[in-house]
Amino acid sequence: MIRNWTADDIPRIYRLERECFENPWHLWSLERTFELKVFRGVLEEIDGVVVGYAGVLAGPDADLALIAVAPKFRRRGIGAALLAAVEAEAVAAGSERMFLEVRVSNTAARSLYIKAGYEDVSVREKYYGDEDAYLMKKDLVPGVKPRPKYKRVGPDVS
Ligand SMILES: CC(C)(COP(=O)(O)OP(=O)(O)OC[C@H]1O[C@@H](n2cnc3c(N)ncnc32)[C@H](O)[C@@H]1OP(=O)(O)O)[C@@H](O)C(=O)NCCC(=O)NCCS
Repeated sequence: MIRNWTADDIPRIYRLERECFENPWHLWSLERTFELKVFRGVLEEIDGVVVGYAGVLAGPDADLALIAVAPKFRRRGIGAALLAAVEAEAVAAGSERMFLEVRVSNTAARSLYIKAGYEDVSVREKYYGDEDAYLMKKDLVPGVKPRPKYKRVGPDVS
């Protein structure tokens, strides 16, 4: 069952995060991110065990911050379901697009994102220190127009 995170879930999410990543988030960064107004988190629980989670910072442009599935539960559609759930959370919060970064070597995640409709925007060199990342994007609201270019606000100093 997919449901929203509660504060009590965070230690279990942290344990799974450490299982899934070489450079996991710190417990305190998960806790502080969870407290942010723009944060939305979803998780998949099977028989009381957290087997996957995802989290998004849902501003006008949402940022997929976290997604992982326990190794034993991969390739069953859980990652795709979590991604869809977190996209729905972002749309409900008013986001129009989702952005994410993914290691260039992470073929599993890349395939998941491409299948879900994400497109490459650019390559961010050494984004992870040791490796480049693809910046990917998906329009969450059909027909949404590109955001107007940044416009300077305040006195013109030129
Ligand atoms: C990426 C990840 C979340 C995918 O979770 P998952 O539950 O296995 O994904 P799904 O079963 O929903 O797969 C959906 C689609 O993604 C693609 N995909 C998933 N894993 C794949 C793999 N190992 N190789 C190739 N394609 C893969 C496939 O297109 C798949 O559809 P299909 O099974 O019909 O072919 C999981 O591999 C994971 O937790 N990886 C470690 C953490 C991580 O890298 N997170 C992303 C950080 S950017």
